Amino acid sequence: MSYRDEIAQAVAAAAQLPAAEVAAMLETPPSQEMGDFALPCFKLAKTLRKAPPMIADMLKESVTLPPAVERVESVKGYLNFYLHRAQQVRDALAPVRALGEAYGHSQEGQGRTVCIDYSSINIAKRFHIGHLSTTVLGHALARIYTAMGYKVVSINHLGDWGTQFGKMICAYKKWGNRQMIEEGGIQAMTELYVRFDQEAQKDETLLDEGRAWFKRIEDQDPEAMEIFTWFKEITLKDAMRVYDMLGITFDSYAGESFYIDKMGRVIDELTAKGLLRDSDGAKVVDVGEDMPPYLILKKDGATLYATRDLAAALYRKDTYDFAKCLYVVAYQQNLHFRQLFKVIELMGYPWYKDMEHISYGMVSYEGQTLATRKGHVVYLDDLLARAVEKAAAIIQEKNPDLPNKEQVARQVGIGSVVFTTLFNSRIKDIDFWWDRALNFDGETAPYVQYCHARCCSLLRKGGGAPAGEVDYSLLDDESSLAVAKLIASFPETVTDACHRGEPFLITRLSVALAQAFNRFYLDNRILVEDPAVTAARLALTDAVRQVLRNALYLLGVEAPEAM
Ligand code: ARG
Repeated sequence: MSYRDEIAQAVAAAAQLPAAEVAAMLETPPSQEMGDFALPCFKLAKTLRKAPPMIADMLKESVTLPPAVERVESVKGYLNFYLHRAQQVRDALAPVRALGEAYGHSQEGQGRTVCIDYSSINIAKRFHIGHLSTTVLGHALARIYTAMGYKVVSINHLGDWGTQFGKMICAYKKWGNRQMIEEGGIQAMTELYVRFDQEAQKDETLLDEGRAWFKRIEDQDPEAMEIFTWFKEITLKDAMRVYDMLGITFDSYAGESFYIDKMGRVIDELTAKGLLRDSDGAKVVDVGEDMPPYLILKKDGATLYATRDLAAALYRKDTYDFAKCLYVVAYQQNLHFRQLFKVIELMGYPWYKDMEHISYGMVSYEGQTLATRKGHVVYLDDLLARAVEKAAAIIQEKNPDLPNKEQVARQVGIGSVVFTTLFNSRIKDIDFWWDRALNFDGETAPYVQYCHARCCSLLRKGGGAPAGEVDYSLLDDESSLAVAKLIASFPETVTDACHRGEPFLITRLSVALAQAFNRFYLDNRILVEDPAVTAARLALTDAVRQVLRNALYLLGVEAPEAM
């Protein structure tokens, strides 16, 4: 039971009130002098028909203190509760020691599945920072949900359908060849596409040829499929390099083309349910006054991104019977997802409530927003490679004798990009600056990683974490207590991060914990004469190490043991 609940129960018994009501009234005072919890008694004045200071005095006498509470004071109508420090430290550290890597995990999701649609890149486009947030955010959520006991199905809903692929094949047949694509990769595909657009402005018949090639893809013509599949493989191979660097894997790559033969059923169902309306030859579903109609079929009968998403939602429900289905997609698609969820609701499926759009803001790079057309596109593999390079230079300067420098540079460099992406509430735009991301003294991955490595090094010097009982009463100073409180808040933070779809809560906690540990380390020497004190401080150091490691893991950041 939490301290809050223990105190609430004790007060409830003394005042003869429901415990939940008291728990809701308990406040966390702004400063330690006013206790760890405070009950403002003026809220009780009405029910108890007494002045608040009298109520506080009376309760102070009658309440039976729970074991975690050291004393209680009545001050100006407030009842202030002071917790036992040693007890608090013990309560914080003991579970970390007992659970290790599983500290912060829960059973909430036991037996339940969550689908997480993230990264979801587009074929024949190079992986650029426009897809950084969805990739990093989705990966963190996958790890967080797994820690919460859910079975996670991670889905890369590939953008692999559309008339542009007909154009691309057409261009390839006219001006391309195998060697050129094999050597030039996605860049060469993009160039072919650009050339097609240019030439089509002069010669409109090209557009018909492009359409004819797309028709051949739709009809599963062997030659068209062979080229199309090959383009897809090249795109994925390229993306895989990025996923490998980030430690990401997917359970499914079922993208838009996967749903081509699954849309008929959906359209039939919409028709049968009377939801499809004709609009100038196109088919739409009306989704309410506050949104434009959802376009399902174009005039020429072609399906859309929306149609495929609808088919995908039904397929996922059938296949995975998810308790939740998350879409980690930029805020530009807010309307699309509101419409999609509404259509599912109109179809009569109560599980529309289990679908959630995890929306996020824009990424800009060193003050410049991403602009594909203007040309300053930042590619993700370049960004990560540069991060590693820069981290290597810093390490070379700070710690030239470090063993496996390359590996640490990789962990720090990539970690800094991930950490920066997950530093703020996701709806905020991100402005990526190298100086900030890689600042070893800032609120960054290297700062937290360095603190973790320092804990590891202290433990190595001190002969490891103490094996037996530890006297927690030796950790009764302010800075130890501050560390303990942050450690104790970790499981709740993970739960919040999960429920709100906000990994940044964990990012912030990891920074706060690293800062608190550094203060502790400034105030206290760890390896001292008295073995009992050393043991207690090492136990705290080990708990910090473990929690930082667990936190970084959930974010998708590695934690080197030396740096
Ligand atoms: N490929 C799309 C894009 O790059 C994102 C797809 C997101 N997932 C989905 N089920 N709509 O914008």
